[in-house]
This record gives sequence, C-alpha cells and structure tokens, in this order.
Amino acid sequence: MQDAILRLESNTVDVVIKTHPFAEILYWGPHLQHFSPQDASSLARPVANGRLDVDSPVTLMAELGHGLFGSPGIEGHRLGLDGSPVFTTTGVQQQGQTLTVTAEDAQAALRLTSELALDASGVLTVRHGVTNLKAQPWQVDRIAVTLPLAERAQEVMAFHGRWIHEFQPHRVELEHDSFVIENRRGKTSHEHFPALISGTPSFGEMQGDVWGVHLGWSGNHRLRVEAKTDGRRYVQAEALYLPGEMAIDEGETLWTPRLYASYSAHGLNGMSQQFHRYLRENIIRFPDNKPRPVHLNTWEGIYFSHDPAYIMKMADEAAALGVERFIIDDGWYKGRSDDRRALGDWYLDENKYPNGLTPVIDHVKALGMEFGIWVEPEMISPDSDLYRAHPDWVLALPGYAQATGRHQLVLNLNIPEAFEYLVERMSWLLGEHDVDYVKWDMNRELVQPGHHGKAAADAQTRQFYRLLDVLGKRFPRVEFESCSSGGGRIDYEVLTRSHRFWPSDNNDALERNTIQRGMSYFFPPEVMGAHIGHHKCHATFRQHDIAFRGLTALFGHMGLELDPLTVDEQEREGYRHYAALHKQWREVIHTGTQWRIDMPDAATLAQGIVSDDKKQGLFIVSQLKMPDYTLMMPLRMPGLEASAQYRITLLDHPNIRLTGEGGHTMRKLPAWMDAPQTASGEWLMQAGIALPILDPETAILIGVERV
Ligand code: GLA
Repeated sequence: MQDAILRLESNTVDVVIKTHPFAEILYWGPHLQHFSPQDASSLARPVANGRLDVDSPVTLMAELGHGLFGSPGIEGHRLGLDGSPVFTTTGVQQQGQTLTVTAEDAQAALRLTSELALDASGVLTVRHGVTNLKAQPWQVDRIAVTLPLAERAQEVMAFHGRWIHEFQPHRVELEHDSFVIENRRGKTSHEHFPALISGTPSFGEMQGDVWGVHLGWSGNHRLRVEAKTDGRRYVQAEALYLPGEMAIDEGETLWTPRLYASYSAHGLNGMSQQFHRYLRENIIRFPDNKPRPVHLNTWEGIYFSHDPAYIMKMADEAAALGVERFIIDDGWYKGRSDDRRALGDWYLDENKYPNGLTPVIDHVKALGMEFGIWVEPEMISPDSDLYRAHPDWVLALPGYAQATGRHQLVLNLNIPEAFEYLVERMSWLLGEHDVDYVKWDMNRELVQPGHHGKAAADAQTRQFYRLLDVLGKRFPRVEFESCSSGGGRIDYEVLTRSHRFWPSDNNDALERNTIQRGMSYFFPPEVMGAHIGHHKCHATFRQHDIAFRGLTALFGHMGLELDPLTVDEQEREGYRHYAALHKQWREVIHTGTQWRIDMPDAATLAQGIVSDDKKQGLFIVSQLKMPDYTLMMPLRMPGLEASAQYRITLLDHPNIRLTGEGGHTMRKLPAWMDAPQTASGEWLMQAGIALPILDPETAILIGVERV
C-alpha cells in the first residue's frame, strides 16, 4: 500500500495521516467538510538546494534518519549500536476514530506501535510503544510523541510556578530554534506543568488558532516546541529519563505516556472546553455521580494539635455551616507532633486519640457529613520507627548523603516489602475505618532517586501509580485527592486514579485568582479544590474580607481551610452564605461550560460558567488591583443562547452595598443593579453589561437566567 491517506475526524477537529511507507501527520486543524484523500498530494514538498536531495518528512516518530536535523522522537542504542532507527509501516488499523500504526526497523530490531485516537470532544490522544526484537537490551535515552504544528503557530504559552504560586502563564514568540520545558523533580512539579500551547500571533481567550498539548505523566518530563530551519514546526513531549534509567529487554514494550492534544479555531476557551469535555467523558469519575460535598479541612485550623474532643466541636460547627465532608489533615499518626518526624509510622497516635479514630468518625457521620483523612505514604522521616527499622528503604543512591526536604526522605516503592508495608497500612486505615476520602500528599522531590544503584525516578512514578491502583481497586468507594505541597502533582494520568486536586497551599484569594485561572486551561472546576482560608492568609499574611475569599472559592470544589470555632459570627455567617451559594450553583459550576473572558485591564479577571442547556449562567469579575481606567469596560457574557431573553441578577457583592455611597471610586451604580433588567443572549454576548467600578481585591458575582 503506497501513500494511503487516512483521516480521523470530529465535529471540530480533523487529523490527516499518510501511513506509507512511513507514517506522517499531514494535517491537524479544523474539521474539513469536503475532504477527499487525493487532496493531500497538494502538500507534497519541493526539495531545497543545498540540502539532502530527498524530501525530509517530520514522521510520526520524527526519526533523525529521515534527515530531520531537529530533535528526534527516539534516541537509544545497544551499547552504541542500533542507534538511529528508521521505521517502515507494517500495519495500519483504523476503527472509527482510533488508528493503530505498526512499523518496524529490521536493522535495529525494533518495532513501533503508534496509537492515535480523536475523541468526539476534539481531543487527540497519542502514544507510542517501542518493542525490542533482539536479545540484547535496547538502552532508551528518549522516546517522545511529536505532533506537527501549522507554520502560523508562532507564539507559545507555557506555565511556570513554584510552591504557593502555581500555574502562572507566560508567553514567548518563537521564530527559530526551540522552546523547552524540562522537569527533573520526580513529580509533575509546581515549576513545569507539562503543557504547551502554540498559537497564531496574539491568540487570546476568544480568538486565534491554538494547539494545546498536555503530557499525562506524574514524573520527569520534557516538552519542546521547535521551529525548524526550513520553517516547519512541531511540538514534542516525553517522559524524561535519567542516565541509564530505561532499557527495553527482548520482547518488552515501553509505552510513552499519553499526549493529549486539543486544537481550537476559537482561541483558548475552545481548547479548554474540549479538554474539559474530554476529561468529563473519559477520565473524571465520581462515586455515585453525587454532588461534590463542601469540605472542611483541619490543616490551617489546628495543624498538628489534634484533640478529638476539640475536633468533634469543630465538626459540630462545620455541619452547622453547611459543610458536607470533614477532613482530618496531617498530625493523626504516631509521633507526628511537627513536620520533623514520624512519616512512615502509619499507626494511630494513641496519645492524641486514646479511644481510636472511630469515635471521631462516628461523630462526623452522625452529623451527616462524610469523613476524610490525610496521608503521605511515599515518604519516610529519618526520625521514625520505620526508618530506624529499615534505613535501607530510602530511595537513594549508595555512597551519597541524601538531602532532606521538609525534613523527610522518600520511601523506595520498588522494594517489594516497602510497597507491601504501605498496602497493609493503608488497608488498615481505609478498611478498618469508615473513610470516604483521602488527601494523598507528596512533599519532597526526588533527588538522586536510586534502586540497586541505578536511577529509578520513572520506576518510582510507576510504583506510585500501582499503589494507588491497588488501593483504588480494594476500596472503590474511597475518593483520592492528589496533593503535593499544593499543586505539585496535577496531571491527567494521576487523575485517572484520583478524584480531585489541591491546586495550592496558598489560600490568599488574590493569589488564588491567578492560580485557579491558570489551572482552568486544562482542568474543569469540579476537580479543583478551592477553600476559603483564614481572613489573614497563612501563606502571605495578606488580609481579605469574606466576600472576596468566598467568591474566589466558589468556582471550584469548595471547602473551608480553617478552624470555625476561633472566628467571629460575621465570619461564620460568611462561610454559611458562600457554602449555600456554592451548593445553589454547584450543578452549573460542575457540569457547565467555562469561559475565561479577556478584559482590557489585565488586573480584571472575568470568567463565566453557562449550563449545558444555556438556561443559566454565572459570571464572576475579580478586580485584582486598582482599575487602570476610570470606568470598567462592559462585561460580555459568552456562551448564551442568542435568541433567548435573560434576566440579569446581581448575586453577590456585599462590598458595593457597603461602600457605594461615595468616597470610593464610584458614585453611582450601573442602572441594571438598581432596576430589573433583561436582555437578549445576543446582546449580552456582543455588547454586554456595564460593570460597577470595583475596588482592588474585590469581586462581583452576576447571574443570568432565561426568562
Ligand atoms: C502539605 C499540603 C498541605 C498540608 C500539609 C500537611 O504541605 O500541601 O495542604 O496537608 O502538607 O503537612
């Protein structure tokens, strides 16, 4: 079969692939209404002078042996031999919108299996499997997934971050060479979220062509966008292997992590909406499909001081505030008096809980709430019984002193006894207690991760997955939250075995605005933990009133992160109010379509969520700094039904009610805030509504309802 041209199609996106003699993606862009395979020959390239005399394709595996002269998709060898594979297609199977291409290099004795699937959402998933066909191991340096980008994708957006400052977007223009993200922290990381977005110049929330990719992997990774010297562009993503870490034995197949890719002709919102839809339909699971309960997590309320009688009083108050799930954070297990000790000793601290955990759990349940608990199984404190008994269970390289992080080391999950110990201890916790939810933490990076003297970051990541798989199977009704000092392990692969993320240890509403917006590019609100913290934020010491904190926590999976017994009644009234408001709108927030809205003032963050039937919409505008202009620009409300009439309601803005009298930036409110107003969806989408002038660090919540 020569030059077979196949297509994967969806309502919004198509991918066209030439399969022979080697596979090459010819097109990844808008859905084509009038496509026929012979069209594709229009793209057959000329051959330039001064280079190879043959055409050099960017193949599906991006082999250097085709004259790529860029970053290849595969690098490895057998003690220096078989180091430049070139694959020839041996089989092609298309089933609906899923394509499997097998290819072989007889010389290097390697087989390549490539799986591409285009989901109805428009999200393309790709992974490669490389099989070693020869007796000697094939040492893997790199295996990546490569996708071509249109030449007009000249701007790149990526995310940087750090602890308490996750998901911060930045942009570069890319005309030549590469833009590369590399992560060697042994977890998804706060610093290098594994995603890249390329787009046409100045792409925005509503406009521009964008091609976004995310690598579903919770370990080391590398992502790259490259502009070749001939002008062609591609994006590449891979698990990053430490020297000598990965080899494929005879008959074995190494699979790359899945690359998730979303093309949108309508800017970043289109890209995100496709990702959200994909996740909702394919990855996110929630036991019984019940509404996600409002949390209270004890961490910032009591830290390590656990007194069951006091905790039960907190639970009483939590229930009275409308909390639906009560979570005991760090500090419950043997000897854990501070963060310097006890990780690994997963037995109850009987000094703190002389009657066991059960009375507390029973109390929580009697109040009608679910119960959750915190663990950090992958870690070991040097000051712990576990370490004293098994100092050799540490993930390390012999001959080197390991630096601690938060006073802790990592447990080597590749040691079967260590793995089984965790399965046994976690099974005790989850099997002998009525636990609905686990906050699974991971607070130290992997430095010199070693097993039998060899690098083992990849193996550790896989063992972490296996551990969650074993526990998930054994306790199918228990939900897991992925936390890693806040947002250090947030990705699609860990989401296949967890239910929620803790995006940040920073509950400062001002900071949360940018963190949550950054996270929303790839994740829908229902998996994003969003808690109201203390009015004086524990991470930044900034102070915010309850309205700004409450509204900021509204568009996620809401909770409280504080001790409700130590605050005044006005604060508590606020918690009650925002928990109730969240519950009232929860279904729309957790199932609707999310829109980020571009505003001319960069300090105005506006977003909305519109229900699937377009009957209801919820819009929030947060003013992070002093407004740049005297007037705020009108808020356009995307996603509504053009022909429908909507009633506009001010749902929440206590600050304006209190201060609108004068002496502030505003003397008179926009008319719609004083008199009832309806307008067509078309008008609201195209012209919008006037906004009140917001003070810095305040927000306003507006609802629209079809009449
Ligand atoms: C990490 C988490 C916090 C909290 C503490 C407990 O820092 O991110 O939310 O659970 O650990 O030690």
